[in-house]
Amino acid sequence: MKKLHIVSNRLPYSVDFVDGSPLLTPSVGGLATGMNSVYKEYNGNWIGWPGVASDSQSPADLARIDALLEKEGCVSVHLSNHEVEEFYEGFCNNTIWPLFHYFAQYVDFHAEFWDAYVKVNQIFAHKTLEVIDDGDYVWVHDYQLMLVPEMIKSKKPNITIGYFLHIPFPSYEVFRILPWRDELLKGLLGADLIGFHTYDYERHFLSSVRRLFGYEITFNEIHIDDRIILADAFPMGIDYKKFEDAAIKINQTPLKERSEVHRELEKYFLMDPDRKLVLSIDRLDYSKGIPNRLRAFGRFLENHPEYRGKVTLILLSVPSRNNVIHYQRLRSEVEELVGSINGLYGNINYTPVWYFYRTMPFQNLVELYSMCDVALITPVRDGMNLVAKEYVASRINKTGVMVLSEMAGVVKEMGEAIIINPNDENQTEKAILQALEMPVDEQRKRLATMQERLKRYDVFKWAKEFVGSLQRVNKIQKDFLAK
Ligand code: F6P
Repeated sequence: MKKLHIVSNRLPYSVDFVDGSPLLTPSVGGLATGMNSVYKEYNGNWIGWPGVASDSQSPADLARIDALLEKEGCVSVHLSNHEVEEFYEGFCNNTIWPLFHYFAQYVDFHAEFWDAYVKVNQIFAHKTLEVIDDGDYVWVHDYQLMLVPEMIKSKKPNITIGYFLHIPFPSYEVFRILPWRDELLKGLLGADLIGFHTYDYERHFLSSVRRLFGYEITFNEIHIDDRIILADAFPMGIDYKKFEDAAIKINQTPLKERSEVHRELEKYFLMDPDRKLVLSIDRLDYSKGIPNRLRAFGRFLENHPEYRGKVTLILLSVPSRNNVIHYQRLRSEVEELVGSINGLYGNINYTPVWYFYRTMPFQNLVELYSMCDVALITPVRDGMNLVAKEYVASRINKTGVMVLSEMAGVVKEMGEAIIINPNDENQTEKAILQALEMPVDEQRKRLATMQERLKRYDVFKWAKEFVGSLQRVNKIQKDFLAK
């Protein structure tokens, strides 16, 4: 195979300045964490934004950033403050993100945001065209770059282009609200293969293509003049072994050599071995249903006083998009709820919710996964949710229960979890109780099935299947044209 290049808004590393020097830190979010494990297997570049505005940096610092990233196989696309505001915060996160997550009331329809989206997609396409050679493969990722496939295809038709959407594709009735719906679809249709996490998202996309353009669609093949475009579902996996190995390593480390997080958690159990920990980890995003989850946990403590002092919820909220107003409001709401639950049900020896607003290193994440009896994953809408998979992979002692929202793409692969509707706080409250009281045998049975499934279809298999389909569609297209 020729080279395969990856194009996404965020690179696997974002830049932070520590004591005046640029430092690379792993980016957060499903795309970056998932793809980070696989991209070095393909001998191309990863083209993307390093996460800092270019006009806030001196030319010398920009050169240092580029050099650091180049060592990791990455090519930076620099965006100015204005572009970050109107493209990233504007059209990406104030228009597409809320719309595709069914938060129509949050959507901004600003023509200037749209113009910035077109312009920045052009910048990404130009940068990509600069680094690719004839016959290469390009894999474009996510909602920030929906116009890039067509922009590349129109300049270099002999490049095979894959596109993967990491968020839900909404139903046509929601998608049609967008004034620029035709342009977005046309942009996507520049790709040869368009992938989604679930069959439902694929179906929604095909239905929008059919209704808006009336193209001929046979099963999942779209026919436009002499082009064939394939749409398919590829549920993204995780680097299963990385989590499993890390959990095994932690388990084998003598207690006094473990991290502070681990030692603190051990102390919690020393006070009473019957105590339980419930875990909640997300970017602080309104699609994740954090307030619903907190309210359900508050109700649980209200209605089950016997569990006060016995159960603690660890709430890790990873800062995200904090210049966007809905994220700022959400943070206040979450912090108010945490305060109110702790004020109502806590005492000197007991804090019901341990709240952390920060990123956590990989090692600490795995420690949290391995020490928490229950994972509470209740997004109101989520493309996939890799945290659910990471929790399962880290449970090397084969126990642990997951309460999972039916609105997360991952639910299709996790029928053994306790499945809830996140808008039903009563049901979530009952699910928390069921999870805490689930007999160990049943926990093991459910977990083993999920572990087996996730191990089999990890992120490497996912990427391999996607790239395999991309090669196949390339061949189908060539055979078709040769006829
Ligand atoms: O995994 C989905 C995703 O939306 C990515 O596209 C995105 O990069 C990530 O989550 C985190 O968001 P952001 O890039 O805005 O920090």
